[in-house]
Amino acid sequence: MLKINNLHTYYGLGHILQGVDMKIDTGSIGVLIGRNGVGKSTTIKSVIGLAEPAQGNITLFDNELVGKKPHNIAKAGVAYVPEGRLIFPDLTVIENIKVANHKPDSSWSISRLLKLFPSLKARETNKGSQLSGGEQQMLAIARALIMDPKLILLDEPSQGLAPLVVKELAKVIKILKETGVTIFLVEQNLKLATAVADHVFVMVKGKIVYHNPVNDFLKEEDKIKKKYLTL
Ligand SMILES: Nc1ncnc2c1ncn2[C@@H]1O[C@H](COP(=O)(O)OP(=O)(O)OP(=O)(O)O)[C@@H](O)[C@H]1O
Ligand SMILES: [Mg+2]
Repeated sequence: MLKINNLHTYYGLGHILQGVDMKIDTGSIGVLIGRNGVGKSTTIKSVIGLAEPAQGNITLFDNELVGKKPHNIAKAGVAYVPEGRLIFPDLTVIENIKVANHKPDSSWSISRLLKLFPSLKARETNKGSQLSGGEQQMLAIARALIMDPKLILLDEPSQGLAPLVVKELAKVIKILKETGVTIFLVEQNLKLATAVADHVFVMVKGKIVYHNPVNDFLKEEDKIKKKYLTL
């Protein structure tokens, strides 16, 4: 289980995360939603160690992550798919996957990955720059999976993707869940968020102001949207 407890993170004097509390059960999907700039990416960056929390705890299976360097957090089983995907444009699909820290005993071989992502299989030798946005997103997820993570952090994977591709992405996220991996998804696209979520968290100004299982969220979606998500 991922537990975030009273997390405070600053950028300079900017007090961005102001006591975040979250729990994501092992093997489930927790989705964090919220308006632009409230601190969603900062929460994910705090988990992977790219932002340094000033206070609070983040534990994965009781293993404290705060204070560890990103490569050690990755070793502890956390994979990060950043906003914007960060695919190497000059490397091929296969090379983009191979540059990830491939654990020798990973349950994900390249051939198993290409089965999960048939659109990548068809483009194996294409360069990153030649892929569509959707293919780049799948590649970014494939690159994270080959590290055999226990927890995967996905920051706005639907950004810039056509509705049909977002549907495909939802399928992939559900298949990932079936493999037992825990997923922390930041998502502005509520359709995708509620299609895959077990639990929904809403952030306002660096604090979680609402959280509930997705079925409860769906019953009060309009109210929550009005209160916390519309401008
Ligand atoms: N490296 C940084 N240095 C200084 N301020 C930053 C930095 N990164 C983010 N911020 C600020 O921190 C706040 C939270 O940013 P964050 O990226 O976590 O928001 P977000 O909820 O992910 O927003 P979005 O929906 O736009 O992705 C914003 O006010 C942003 O301007
Ligand atoms: Mg963000």
